Amino acid sequence: MKKLSNLSLCLLFCLSIFTEPVVAQSKPSITHETPEQKAKRMQWWTDARFGMFIHWGLYALPARHEWVKNRERMTNEQYQKYFDEFNPDHFEPKKWAKEAKAAGMKYAVLTTKHHEGFCLFDSKFTNYKATNTAAKRDLVKEYVDAFRAEGIKIGFYYSLIDWHHPDFTIDKVHPQRPLEDSDTAYARLNKGKDFAKYRKYLYNQVTELLSNYGKIDILWLDFSYPGKYGKGKDDWASVDLLKQIRKLQPGIIVDNRLDLNDYEDGADFVTPEQVSSKELEKYKGKTWETCQTFSGSWGYYRDENTWKTHRQLLDLLITSASNGGNLILNVGPTARGEFDYRANNALDSLSTWMHANSKSIYNCTYAPENYQAPSGDKLTYNPATKRLYVHLYDYPSTGTLNLPGYKGKIKYAQFLHDNSELQYKEQNDDIVLTLPVQQPRYEIPVVELVLN
Ligand code: GLC
Repeated sequence: MKKLSNLSLCLLFCLSIFTEPVVAQSKPSITHETPEQKAKRMQWWTDARFGMFIHWGLYALPARHEWVKNRERMTNEQYQKYFDEFNPDHFEPKKWAKEAKAAGMKYAVLTTKHHEGFCLFDSKFTNYKATNTAAKRDLVKEYVDAFRAEGIKIGFYYSLIDWHHPDFTIDKVHPQRPLEDSDTAYARLNKGKDFAKYRKYLYNQVTELLSNYGKIDILWLDFSYPGKYGKGKDDWASVDLLKQIRKLQPGIIVDNRLDLNDYEDGADFVTPEQVSSKELEKYKGKTWETCQTFSGSWGYYRDENTWKTHRQLLDLLITSASNGGNLILNVGPTARGEFDYRANNALDSLSTWMHANSKSIYNCTYAPENYQAPSGDKLTYNPATKRLYVHLYDYPSTGTLNLPGYKGKIKYAQFLHDNSELQYKEQNDDIVLTLPVQQPRYEIPVVELVLN
């Protein structure tokens, strides 16, 4: 009897182990959305793969980095001349939208307010806005109308940081930060400031942006730096802010800079900034968007000359798609409100390539495990059409391309840019494609393989 009860106890114990739900150390959730619901909400964005970032504000006038106020420790008074002189007489967002569309960008994100605090929109909570400059109008509204008319999805960047607002307390990244960090130095500088007022201002402005411009597809909040003399989720009241965002725009996609990593759904995507294409490989399997500049600065920087080449830009785009991520490429318009010639050249070359090859980017992701890229090349894959794309980084001068282990796996091959057939033969386990010796006129031509 004793034996039996021991046995049954043991059985009961084992049963309880295997039938109890395994309590994983899951993070708390803010909105209780299921993974399926999230995937559906994000679908258009993951299909799009390519967007345009636009950093535009008063910093276009000094034209020496959007952090100029911080770098040169300028006061509001010293920075005021840029507000007084702001006169974007060439601002024609319809042109921007047409260029973005031609380059194949499916969404755009504009800085409605950057760290300097200047608002391109007509906010009722501040006078520091475009309507009070020579522009005399709500520039965000014109951007929204122009991009929407081109069928481009609308995103707003909004800076959590504000170097102009009187109640934004001075911290380690503020232009008026002390020369040496100490509690007493910060206390002295922040005397009389009431951060709660700023928190309310931020909440109110985000509410305005998500209430007054119709459907907004993306919100890009920037950024948190928690810790001593920094700011994070408690400062911004990030949880409440995110709830409000989701309430006002249920379909919206939000970045990961609210400092809500402790929550299951505190962000929709991660944002590797200005990283190399090698580094992007690490993000495979996550939901991600890399943000990249043409030249190192986000705002217009007249004398910055390290512009990425056409090949480097293409590599970022292809590498993003081939690792299941997005690329948002930044333009910093001039103080007169237009893209400068270097940005136009870069966009034009992208539009030529995308016109011919965008099928290897849109709706694409990484290739199934059992397909290897020929050495030096990169693959993307469209799971819906079962087409595999080989991006020819080093165009073979031999007139052939070996696809290792591809025997029996493909039923047709062609160049993507002109749908011209590429003949092939099987050799051992491989497929050998015959390519013209003369490289097609694209920097990185693409072979399209129809899989069995
Ligand atoms: C950084 C910078 C900022 C830029 C942003 C874009 O956080 O502070 O200037 O807007 O990156 O990702």
